[in-house]
Amino acid sequence: MRMISGRTGGSACQQILRRDRRFRLSYLLLLFGGTLLTVGCSRLDMQDQPKYKPQRGSDFFADGRSGRPEVDGTIARGALNEDTAYYDGEDDNGDDVDVFPIAVDKPFIERGQQRYDAYCSPCHGRIGNGLGMIVRRGFKQPPSYHIDRLRNAPVGHFYDVITNGYGAMLNYAAQISVRDRWAIIAYIRALQYSQNANVNDLSADARTKVPGADQILTAEQKAALANEPIVPKDSDFYNFPYVPATPSGVPGVNGAGAAKSNQPERK
Ligand code: HEC
Repeated sequence: MRMISGRTGGSACQQILRRDRRFRLSYLLLLFGGTLLTVGCSRLDMQDQPKYKPQRGSDFFADGRSGRPEVDGTIARGALNEDTAYYDGEDDNGDDVDVFPIAVDKPFIERGQQRYDAYCSPCHGRIGNGLGMIVRRGFKQPPSYHIDRLRNAPVGHFYDVITNGYGAMLNYAAQISVRDRWAIIAYIRALQYSQNANVNDLSADARTKVPGADQILTAEQKAALANEPIVPKDSDFYNFPYVPATPSGVPGVNGAGAAKSNQPERK
C-alpha cells in the first residue's frame, strides 16, 4: 500500500512533474509519426522532375525539338583532327593525297598485312586479285588491285574507299582505325609491287641472284627487258570473267552444290 501510494501519490509537485513527462513523451511520438507521414507522402524523386525524354518534341523551341544541336564549329576535346592528309586522305584542295601522311616501315606494313587479311581478303583475295572466298560464293567481284588504274591511284583514293565505301563495298570506318587504314594501304602498295616488280629495281649484286637476269645480253635485249616486269602478265590474273564462277560442288548461296537446309524457314 505504501509502495503503490509511493508510485502514484507523492507531493503535488512530484505529480505535476510526472504528468508533464508523460505529456512530453506522447507529444514527441506524435511529432515523429507526423514527420514520417509527411516525408512518406510528399517524396519527390529526381526521376519525377519535369524534363524532356530523348527525341521528344518541345513547344519551347522554334524548331520543335527539345534537344539542342551543337553550335556550329563545336569540336570535342581531342577530336580536332586538323591533319586532313592523315584523317581525310585529302590535301588542302580536297584532292586525294599521293604520299603517305605517316612513316611507313616494315612493322607497319606487316600490321597492314594482318589487318588486310582479316578485313579485305575475304572479298579482294589474299593477293588482291579480287577473287576472295565471298566473291567465289557469289558476291560482286571487285576490280583487281593490279590493274593500271588502281596501281596509279593515289593512296588517298584507297583511304577514301576504306573510310567512305565505294559502290557495292561498304565502308570500314567503324571497324578499322585511321592508323590501321594507312597500314592496310601500305600493304596494298606492297601487294601491287609484288606483282609488278622490275628486275632493274634490284641492285646489280642482287640481280645476279635472279635466275636468267645475269645472262649476257645484247644492249638491245637489255633495253627491251628494262621495262618488263619479272612476273609475266598472266591473262588469268588480269582478265577475270565478270560473272564470278562458283565452283560446282562448293556449298554456297548460289553455287551448284549449295547445301539446302531441312530447317523450316524462320518466321
Ligand atoms: C564484302 C566484300 C568486300 C570487302 C570485305 C572489301 N571490299 Fe573493297 N570492294 C568490294 C567490291 C564489291 C568493290 C567494287 C565496288 C563497285 O565497283 O561497286 C570493291 C572495291 C574496292 C576498291 C576499288 C575502288 C575503285 O576505285 O575501283 C578498293 C581500293 C577497295 N575495294 C579496297 C578495300 C579494302 C582496303 C578493304 C579492306 C579494308 C576492302 N576493300 C574490303 C568488296 C569488298
